[in-house]
Formats: sequence, structure tokens, C-alpha cells
Amino acid sequence: MSAFIIPRKTYHGLGSLENLKTVEGRKAVIVTGSGSMKKFGFLDKTVSLLREAGIDSAVFEGVEADPSVETVLRGVEFFNRENPDLIIGLGGCSAIDAAKAMWVFYEYPEATFEEIIKPFTIKPLRNKARFVAIPSTSGTGTEATCATIITDTCKGIKYPIVSYELTPDIAIVDGELAKSMPPNVTADTGMDALSHDVEAFVAALASPYTDALALDSVRLVFENLPRAYADGNNLEARQAMHDASNMGGMAFSNAILGIVHSIAHQIGGMFGVPHGRANAILMPNVIRFNSLDTDKYQLLAQALGKKTVEDFALEIERLRQSVGIEDSFKSYGIDPKVWEEKLDTMVQNAMDDPCTGTNPRQPTAEEMKIIFERCFNGEVVDL
Ligand SMILES: [Fe+2]
Repeated sequence: MSAFIIPRKTYHGLGSLENLKTVEGRKAVIVTGSGSMKKFGFLDKTVSLLREAGIDSAVFEGVEADPSVETVLRGVEFFNRENPDLIIGLGGCSAIDAAKAMWVFYEYPEATFEEIIKPFTIKPLRNKARFVAIPSTSGTGTEATCATIITDTCKGIKYPIVSYELTPDIAIVDGELAKSMPPNVTADTGMDALSHDVEAFVAALASPYTDALALDSVRLVFENLPRAYADGNNLEARQAMHDASNMGGMAFSNAILGIVHSIAHQIGGMFGVPHGRANAILMPNVIRFNSLDTDKYQLLAQALGKKTVEDFALEIERLRQSVGIEDSFKSYGIDPKVWEEKLDTMVQNAMDDPCTGTNPRQPTAEEMKIIFERCFNGEVVDL
């Protein structure tokens, strides 16, 4: 027996930001990043649409990439002063992720980070406020997911916080906001979306509900990521990638992920490789490794008009190359000596990563190490 949990309402399509006019509330706090939403006029537009709905707003700006505990606590103080009944995460995944964590501490002031990182233990939210997520990047799908990641910069720890209480009430998936992304971010986030589809599709908790979303999202990414990368003003491609990202978010929030993410979490944390870029380098080899224990990749190959699992892995390599992503961590520029020093720690942490448990094939530490090494050198995994 399983549940399938997604936002109660998803507004999508170019111009769907206008739906803010229909939202009910008294006071909104808008949580946003370091300026692109303001620069492109979307912050002002959000404030004015809320005004039309009769909702006052206050803005908490300046959420950084990889939002910190300090930023979350500053946000909670702001929430306590402003007393909102509507929280709006507007911008990249960092802004939305930070707003999700602020929401928890606003509702439960006595809670600690140590308590809320225990998976699926957050008490019911929505006693004080509801949550609206409006993404400007097309990758994490955080507007549809039960997850957020907050960084403790003092301890150097990333806190993954997972609870279906965190799934937003309303997602607004308007591709116009994605125009603000430069090409490298379009490429990295787009490949992150693809990795959510591919991992959710074969994950241990996949269901017909998540499969349908993941399968169609794969098709959308292959058709539209090269177009959005080549021309950031192609709004049709932007909207399609925004939809794909949201569909991937709905899929993986319910099916969970696999070892592409377990490994990328380590390489991202240790070497600062952008998350989606690491996923793009890892995906073909993880597919080759997993294909021994699942035949579902065949369906993804067929969706692209291909026959074999290897065809599918090669299609991802071609897509990766077409959006300017390297074929190995060595060519990305990681120093081989430092890589070697950190390798055993990264392998152990990847084995312990929560995403490993839902991977369709359980690797031994030795196999995990070989996957790391082959992806570092740009060699094919044949385990
Ligand atoms: Fe991801």
C-alpha cells in the first residue's frame, strides 16, 4: 500500500503567475534569492498580483546558494515579526528550500535542526501558514517535493530534511521565470531534472503514478533541453523544461532516487561540482550498472525511438555533450591527487546515503568505488 502526495494545486503554462490573484490570504512573506527575480521584474509582479488578491506582502531577500542555518533562522525571525498566513518561495531552488525550512520553525519555534532532520517526523504544518512555490529554475522540482537541504556552514554539514508536510500547497510553474537562467545553469538544472526522471523510474518505490510522470518528462527533456540551452528566450522550450522539472519532482518525491544522487551528493559536497552536472556525468554508467537488475530502462529507450539500454545511455551522453557538459570528472577539472585522497570517504558516504536504499541494484563498496573511478576517468562501467 502506498500514497502519492503532490501539491493540491499546480498552475502551469506561460503567464500562470497571474493565478496568484486567486490565492486567498491576509499577509504573505515572499522569500527570494539575491536579485534575479527583482532584476527581471518578477518580484514586483508577485507583490502587485498579491495586492490584487487583497494580500499584503513583505519580502525576505538575499537567500544564498546552498542556504545556511543562519539564513533560515534570520528568516524565522522575520516571519515572527510579520506574522504571515502565506509563505511564498520565489526563485531558484535555494529560495524555495530555505522558505520550506523557515516554515517549519515558524510553526514549531521549539524545534531543532537535529529533530527535524529525522526523516518523516515533522509534525503537521499549516497551523499558521500555507506554502506557495514559484520556481525560476527547471531542475530540482522542489515546488513539488517533500524535501529541502539546509547547510550548517560552521559544522560543514548539509541537513537533508524530508517530510510530506513540506510538499507545497500550491506550485506555480511559469516558464517565463526560467528566462533568467544563463545557459550553463539551464544545462545543469535540465540534466538534474532528467536524473530525477531516470532514477525515479527504476527506483524501488516507483509506481504506475510516478512512472507515467517520469516517462513523459524524459521525452520533454530530450526534446526541449537543447532548444532552451541554445536560445534562452525560446519560451516554448522554457515552459516544456519547467513542466518536465515539475513532473520529475512529483515522480521522485514519491518514488525516491538512486545512486546517481548518492554519488553526486558526495562529489558536489567535496569538490563543488554543480549538482546537475555531476548527475549528467554519472547517469550513463549508473544505468549500465543498474541494468543487470532492472529491465525498465528499455521502456525509456523505446520512448526515444531507440532499442537497447546501451542506446539509452549513449543518448544521454549525446545530450550531455550537446549542452556543453564534460564526459568525466577529470575533464571537469578535479585534481586526480585530491580525488584519490578523498575517494574512500566519498565511497563510504555514498554507501550510507539515503538514496542508495532505493537504487534498483545494491552495490558493494567495491562496486561503488569502481563506478566513482570510471566516471572520474570517462570510462565505461561493465560490472
Ligand atoms: Fe537532483
